[in-house]
Amino acid sequence: MSSDSKSKSVVPAHVAIIMDGNGRWARQRGLPRIKGHEKGSESVRAIVKACRNAGVKYLTLYAFSVENWIRPKTEINALMRLLDRFLRNEEHELHENRVRLRVIGRREDLPSRLDEKLREVEARTRQYEDGNLILALSYGGRTELVKACRTIAQRVKDGELSPDEIDEDTVSANLYAPDIPDPDLLIRTSGELRVSNFLLWQISYAEFYVTDVLWPDFREPEFKEALADFSKRRRRFGDVK
Ligand code: IPE
Ligand code: IPE
Ligand code: MG
Repeated sequence: MSSDSKSKSVVPAHVAIIMDGNGRWARQRGLPRIKGHEKGSESVRAIVKACRNAGVKYLTLYAFSVENWIRPKTEINALMRLLDRFLRNEEHELHENRVRLRVIGRREDLPSRLDEKLREVEARTRQYEDGNLILALSYGGRTELVKACRTIAQRVKDGELSPDEIDEDTVSANLYAPDIPDPDLLIRTSGELRVSNFLLWQISYAEFYVTDVLWPDFREPEFKEALADFSKRRRRFGDVK
């Protein structure tokens, strides 16, 4: 490694995070799980700010999976309420810092009032380019790919596309947010070594970083550690250099 690449810190353009461990954080303190989610939403605020400070342009947060609907109704309701509160309290931060909000996932599953509010904030922050906060809500990587397949199949059926014209770009173009570059760094908190159906297509060459720190304890110093680790990685993309 040249001294130049040693000293130069490489900042990922896109960081995706599987925010895990809220329940365990609460259990360790003898608190109900929802207290862990509440504390976890403070980490969301801290990490959005940390991205800004570090110059990370895209942040995708796995906030609710398609599988999470099997959780107890009380927990689901509490999570939806927290999201609503987050929008209310944090929208001004998005404007102040010119951050665009986006949602990916089966948004038709969300309570319609919440989806409306999300749409409003998305519309009001549409013009911003300094940063992008992408919330994965009722999101599943397989669901996203099935949706893409259906759209592509319909185009073939309609005679707009022939099967041999379908390539990787065709699939990418039919994902929820086709204009967003693939994540460079994928972080998972709370030590689980699995992907849990997150961004299956997009993470093909993402660098993984797993920490035992639970999401409610994951703040700017822990995020900076992940960035420092990323900066030491040598991404080869299949090459031999
Ligand atoms: C992550 O924390 C938040 C969501 C999945 C919504 P968990 O709720 O999964 O916390 P653990 O994994 O039970 O500790
Ligand atoms: C993944 O966490 C989903 C989110 C962080 C929203 P889970 O806690 O649902 O994942 P598993 O069940 O441990 O794989
Ligand atoms: Mg979990």
